[in-house]
Amino acid sequence: MTERFLGKDLLGLEPLTADQIRFILDTAEPFKEVSERAIKKVPTLRGKTIVNLFFEASTRTRISFEFAEKRLSADTVNVAAAGSSVEKGETLVDTARNLEAMRIDMVVMRHPSSGAAQFLADRIRSNVVNAGDGTHEHPTQGLLDLLTLRDKFGRIEGLKVCICGDILHSRVARSNIWGLLKLGAEVGVCGPASLLPLGIEELGVTVYRRIEDAIEWADALNVLRLQLERMHAGFLPSLREYNRVFGVTVERLEKAPRELVILHPGPMNRGVEIDSRVADGPHSVILEQVTNGVAIRMAVLYLLAGGRPEMAEAAKGRAGEAGE
Ligand code: CP
Repeated sequence: MTERFLGKDLLGLEPLTADQIRFILDTAEPFKEVSERAIKKVPTLRGKTIVNLFFEASTRTRISFEFAEKRLSADTVNVAAAGSSVEKGETLVDTARNLEAMRIDMVVMRHPSSGAAQFLADRIRSNVVNAGDGTHEHPTQGLLDLLTLRDKFGRIEGLKVCICGDILHSRVARSNIWGLLKLGAEVGVCGPASLLPLGIEELGVTVYRRIEDAIEWADALNVLRLQLERMHAGFLPSLREYNRVFGVTVERLEKAPRELVILHPGPMNRGVEIDSRVADGPHSVILEQVTNGVAIRMAVLYLLAGGRPEMAEAAKGRAGEAGE
């Protein structure tokens, strides 16, 4: 392969061009089909070693990356902070350099500190994929949300998408805002003032103070979890109050001028930011998001390894060579 299409790392959607984002989405398309096969494996990353370094809890992202890696025939190792030498005080860089000394190719990392992925990428030769760093970015979540919206509407340009809830603590919100704006969507944010970053309008989004106004305006809502574990002060009077004022409920959606598509990155606080009848209802694409997550991560790993978007169809076509 010649020059890498995405560069060495995927740290966020802010540094990417609209073309790069579009090509990742297009590259994910042929990889969707691999997960529908009886033998879900292609040889694309055979011989590559990938370490999943998760310093924070995760279900969807960690498992989805692991499936993506295995379906591309990479060799994978999972490392969590608990049980590793991080518990004994080893630094992030020492952990990563020791892994590199064992000749790995890529690190997928989730970390509670914003900027941790960039910090690591600047110090190791392996490709680094940001699987969520503090309140900064979660690029593969942003990409899978874009792919799910594109599947549903056939386009991103011109869509009105409102991101609702705890924007302040949300790396998913930031990746969505960058990705949606770059692809020509209109973006709203809606939540209590205590959970909206000061000056968020400067990113080019419209602030909605009432969920009813957001529902009236939007084609799709991306409903975010209240990140109670990151709230170290009195951001909300109570969860019941939050649900009463900002909860996405069937009653509120029934008053919308059009049928809205409902996304949620998970994990959900049912009965707080979203009611179960909405989460499990006909307009929810929450599980489609999870399915698309595997294809997006396959596409990102393939491109970082030097693959070209136009070769993705051929790469997924060689299933028989996987040799399992
Ligand atoms: N959406 C998301 O990042 O979920 P996890 O925290 O379970 O990985």
